[in-house]
Amino acid sequence: MRLLVFTCFLATGVALRVRGVIDRESLLIAKFGFQKTVSTEDIDTRGYVFGNVSSNSDLDSGLTMSLLPGGYFDAFSDHVIDSDESCRAAFAEIGGAAYDSACNPSGAEDFLRRVPCDVGTLCKDEDQPKLVVKYNQFTYIVEDFQHPRFWFLSISPCRRQPSLNCTWKYTAVPNGVEIKYDIWLVNGNPYKTERNPLEYQFSFEKQDTAELYLVFLLTYAVLCVVSWCNWRLVKYRLGHPVFVLLASIVCMFLGLGLTSLHVCLFAVDGVGLPALGCVARFLRTFSQ
Ligand SMILES: *[C@@H]1O[C@H](CO)[C@@H](O)[C@H](O)[C@H]1NC(C)=O
Ligand SMILES: *[C@@H]1O[C@H](CO)[C@@H](O)[C@H](O)[C@H]1NC(C)=O
Repeated sequence: MRLLVFTCFLATGVALRVRGVIDRESLLIAKFGFQKTVSTEDIDTRGYVFGNVSSNSDLDSGLTMSLLPGGYFDAFSDHVIDSDESCRAAFAEIGGAAYDSACNPSGAEDFLRRVPCDVGTLCKDEDQPKLVVKYNQFTYIVEDFQHPRFWFLSISPCRRQPSLNCTWKYTAVPNGVEIKYDIWLVNGNPYKTERNPLEYQFSFEKQDTAELYLVFLLTYAVLCVVSWCNWRLVKYRLGHPVFVLLASIVCMFLGLGLTSLHVCLFAVDGVGLPALGCVARFLRTFSQ
């Protein structure tokens, strides 16, 4: 697997907006936790994955993008894809479950898209343009009324060929060919304007974390003031234990401040400032 641009979020699991370029082989693009769908507000509580995947070369939609829930993905990711045989094995189970207008019209699951898609148009598998989020080439809608779940988005060099009895074939991506993607993964209706940004951009397991950080930040602000006052009582002496405590609280406060800034930016643009997060983690560790 060679990967030119790698987004930090794969590692942290807080996907959001992923952008990058791949030039061959199978790639896990993102892992994202979609919240449980509430049946009375289904439009606003579903998960949405939308974006563009295009290439600088005519690959004739020879790759397959899959959005898979954990169970399917575990089995799928065990395969190293490098031949027709491995494509067939990797997609055997998924291909049976996934809807495909030509090859499996009775499939119930919307897992697969042929990519890359032609610039300026919808992906070929989007047969209901109304469901595609505006200015994007594809849209997946995730609905789960039982529980929140992790889903995995990946692109594999395999194609299913209706002209060959729908068998899976390996697609060798020539050197120099790039596949560009720009994809959002969100919880909630992308068209809704008055949504909670702390929930929309965040994978379900992070939704409360964002709010918690802000609460911690406030608490530490109060602690800073209190311990500053204590330090004043000991006449601002540097070696005093009260000073050590103050220094540690200030470091923690700065760390939390940077983290909160990262989280707030992230809530707005889905990217944030990952470097800030790293400095913040250092400060928080240092403070202890
Ligand atoms: C994605 O594709 C759509 C339709 O082809 C286009 O209007 C839009 O500008 C593209 N967006 C990006 C970020 O490339
Ligand atoms: C498709 O399957 C049929 C029946 O199994 C077989 O006769 C035919 O040769 C196959 N076609 C291709 C292109 O593999």
